[in-house]
Amino acid sequence: MNPSDASGAFDPKQFLNVGEFESVAYARMTKMASDYFRSGAWGENTLRWNVQAWEQIRVYHRAMVDVSKRSTATTLLGSPSAFPFIIAPAALHKLACKEGEIATARAASSRGVPLILSSLSSTGVEEVCRAAKDVDVWMQLYIGKERSHVLDLAARAHAAGCKALVLTVDAPVWGVRERDIRNGFCLPPDIEVVNLMRSSRDGAGHGAEGGLTGHSGAGIAEALGWTIDASLSWKDLDWLVSKVSLPIMVKGICRVDDACRAVDAGAKGVLVSNHGGRQLDGAPATAESLEAVADAVGDRACVIVDGGIRRGVDVLRALALGAHGASAARPILWGLGAGGEAGVARVLELLQTEFDLAMALAGCATLEEITADLLLG
Ligand SMILES: Cc1cc2nc3c(=O)[nH]c(=O)nc-3n(C[C@H](O)[C@H](O)[C@H](O)COP(=O)(O)O)c2cc1C
Repeated sequence: MNPSDASGAFDPKQFLNVGEFESVAYARMTKMASDYFRSGAWGENTLRWNVQAWEQIRVYHRAMVDVSKRSTATTLLGSPSAFPFIIAPAALHKLACKEGEIATARAASSRGVPLILSSLSSTGVEEVCRAAKDVDVWMQLYIGKERSHVLDLAARAHAAGCKALVLTVDAPVWGVRERDIRNGFCLPPDIEVVNLMRSSRDGAGHGAEGGLTGHSGAGIAEALGWTIDASLSWKDLDWLVSKVSLPIMVKGICRVDDACRAVDAGAKGVLVSNHGGRQLDGAPATAESLEAVADAVGDRACVIVDGGIRRGVDVLRALALGAHGASAARPILWGLGAGGEAGVARVLELLQTEFDLAMALAGCATLEEITADLLLG
């Protein structure tokens, strides 16, 4: 496939599915950037399982249902979305294209889809919130050794207009991504982890100079070690819940007991996730852990799933397994790398169009009709 027009310009309509963006995007990046995006941890088994597990779920479509009028619109934790999808947090969008998170936010706005901004983003939360028109932004957080820093960033996010906080809990230490180590992963001088620059509160935060820029060693685990903390425990969630007023999603759950513990502590939602296979290689595919978690959480909280979502029909599968919505990171990075804002908009359009058609073909006119029996036959 040649996804460019005759002049070589990016032509979004040439891309017929999300997967077609991958090779085009990676070809346009440095090896260090493409390896950073594509990497899973260790043997990259969970990375692979994530995609395969969705593909293997059979959908027993209902026949003879009037699906002439369909609606895909929904809300996730009160945030409206054109379909049950939210953009997953991914660090450093500027490694994919120079407009970085601003291009992502504009594309999300044009498609009516909310986004979760990474605390390791290369654009500040205030700027991203300004670029996101009529769509909500949620802020992802890590809790690092300096506990107060997370409150600073949560307060900044709140002031900037973010509607929820997403606490990532699957990274007490960084997973080992061997490609990054081999490449000596570091950032070009013009890209910075801006949300974590010197703290405005006490001047003691870590700037990029303490982080990734010019780092020449063992990849992200060493460079960003200070942003996380191996002593993280449930009491830190209790503490965060007591300190912030925005709703909190807990991201990185694969077990029923953890999901219940998070909701009992006051989390308004859980994100079933294995960090896109970048943390514990060997963790189950999210399509495998979702159903039990969704059953246990029930209506008490919002359940979202990410990891390996590549087709609109995967979103339908996620809803049939009990999720309220699905999310993805790499497809967005591929859109960004291949075509900036227009690329991300096309990725979102493809996912939404496929989801709408999958609903029709499965005999569902409304989201409520996407139920577990579709997977049983
Ligand atoms: C390049 C990259 C950077 C990521 N950065 C973050 C991050 O900063 N915070 C976080 O919670 N998750 C991060 N993730 C994990 C994603 O939010 C998400 O859980 C996962 O990638 C979903 O799988 P998918 O890429 O197959 O869609 C990152 C993933 C990738 C691929």
